Amino acid sequence: MVAPRLAGQRPAYLENQIRSFRDHSRDNPFSKQYMWGAVAALDPESVHDLAVYFASIPGKPANDGNPSLIAVGKTIYMDGIPEANIASCYACHGPNAEGTREIPRLGGLAYFYLKARLEQWGQGYHSGAGTPMPIVARALGPNEIEALASYLSFVR
Ligand code: HEC
Repeated sequence: MVAPRLAGQRPAYLENQIRSFRDHSRDNPFSKQYMWGAVAALDPESVHDLAVYFASIPGKPANDGNPSLIAVGKTIYMDGIPEANIASCYACHGPNAEGTREIPRLGGLAYFYLKARLEQWGQGYHSGAGTPMPIVARALGPNEIEALASYLSFVR
């Protein structure tokens, strides 16, 4: 429930996140509780090898969001909501939410995880240095988060 699916995730993103756990910049409560200790002893070569390994496993979508919100979520994902200053996610995460380099795959992640991540930036928790996500996520209200997390959980 609380841990993200890592199969098929972008290797550069995975390496960045492990580094963010190690330097404690990814600082939400679950990261502190579970991940800071888990990665503390990894050397850079093992971090790289793990990232390559996770990325090589074919991903399976979680399919656990609310199916009646797929259409609304997809529209926000593709176009954003310009009048509410909500960015198009597609612009960075790609047409099929597949990500690229240090921008993560979102397609198929679990609803609960996506929702928590999008809420946490608004609550002031951080991730990798210089990421645009705190600004992007702060513009999202509860209804948009609900729709985006639902839609993305079904993307394969
Ligand atoms: C300007 C580029 C950009 C835009 C626009 C953008 N993102 Fe992101 N997103 C990123 C980057 C870069 C990261 C990686 C952050 C990090 O390294 O900590 C990220 C990370 C994420 C994550 C974390 C995934 C995980 O595995 O923990 C989620 C969820 C997310 N974005 C959702 C969205 C949604 C939803 C939108 C549209 C409302 C969006 N993003 C728009 C660049 C962007």
